[in-house]
Amino acid sequence: MMNRRQVLLGSALLPAARTGLAVPTAARMIVISSANGLRACSRTMELLKSGQDTLDAVVAGVNINEEDPEDSSVGFGGLPNEDGVVELDASVMHGPTRRCGSVASLRNIKTPSKVARLVMDQTDHVMLAGEGALRFAKAFGLPEDNLLTEKSRLAWLVWKKSLRDSGGHNNWGPGLDAPPERPPASLKRDFPNVDEETLAWAWEVAIHPPTGTINCLALNPKGELSGVTTTSGLAWKIPGRVGDSPVLGAGLWVDQDVGGAGSTGRGEENLRVAGAHTIVENMRRGMSAKEACLDALKRVARNFDNDAARLAQFDLNFYALRKDGDYAGAALWSGRLRQGKIVPITFAVNDGGESRLENCVYLLEKK
Ligand code: GLY
Repeated sequence: MMNRRQVLLGSALLPAARTGLAVPTAARMIVISSANGLRACSRTMELLKSGQDTLDAVVAGVNINEEDPEDSSVGFGGLPNEDGVVELDASVMHGPTRRCGSVASLRNIKTPSKVARLVMDQTDHVMLAGEGALRFAKAFGLPEDNLLTEKSRLAWLVWKKSLRDSGGHNNWGPGLDAPPERPPASLKRDFPNVDEETLAWAWEVAIHPPTGTINCLALNPKGELSGVTTTSGLAWKIPGRVGDSPVLGAGLWVDQDVGGAGSTGRGEENLRVAGAHTIVENMRRGMSAKEACLDALKRVARNFDNDAARLAQFDLNFYALRKDGDYAGAALWSGRLRQGKIVPITFAVNDGGESRLENCVYLLEKK
């Protein structure tokens, strides 16, 4: 006969040893996030320790990134769409009440995670988008701001200047040449007051549009779980493009019986495998957090017939936290090429002390 715990775990047909979950939940607090979330993990842990709800804690954690003009992948200072307008996506899930909310293509509000939370708490809907989401946020008193920082505006202009039509022409610059491999000397002439490092960064993001994002998942000693994902999405996107972050089941999924998962990186590929939901269901069937993430990455590779050359064109990372405290970060590739060196892909963890970075497990070796 099934006991109550097995029923709750939804794994009654699997032997306890195989599920890895039919063990007493460890009374431990764990917060994990994408690598840009060291401060977010610390803030979340601080709030968990003071007894705050897991969703309140993760939202307060990622608010640090959303409000930070130096994080160009999230909130204020995020890289804009092709019109130079910052559009934000976010989602939240609260394990204990099994409720969720999300917003997509939200303009002018620094903290889309708070708006997703309001959608969850204050409406009978799950997702709001665009103009309606902005009006809703304003109705709840969130202030409107210009989210485009000078640094992000510079990067957008550099991107505009990097574009060419098939004849090599660009209306945003004086030259008619095809784009060179390295930042063109004309950039220094066009932006004489900008330092070399900022120009090099602007050129890098112009030619390799990033998909940053922060995902944060938390577990408290009562075994309660929550998660949040928030992003400015793909740099230079078509206005209205929505990635995986606000799509529940792709950018974020939490099942209070099993665990939570989230993603950063190229949202289009995550959407095609419903990554976060796939990972949680894998964990429900007994996989460890690592195995569950790697299986989702295999599905991504399968969508490209495992063709390494095409897969090399993007990054995708998953994060998973099981209800028993098992956790993982996993990346499609072993590392990123930075100044001629391969740098490992990491994720942030806090299990009660200082936040730290750990290496992600990975599917493919970057050569
Ligand atoms: N993962 C973020 C995005 O693609 O928008």
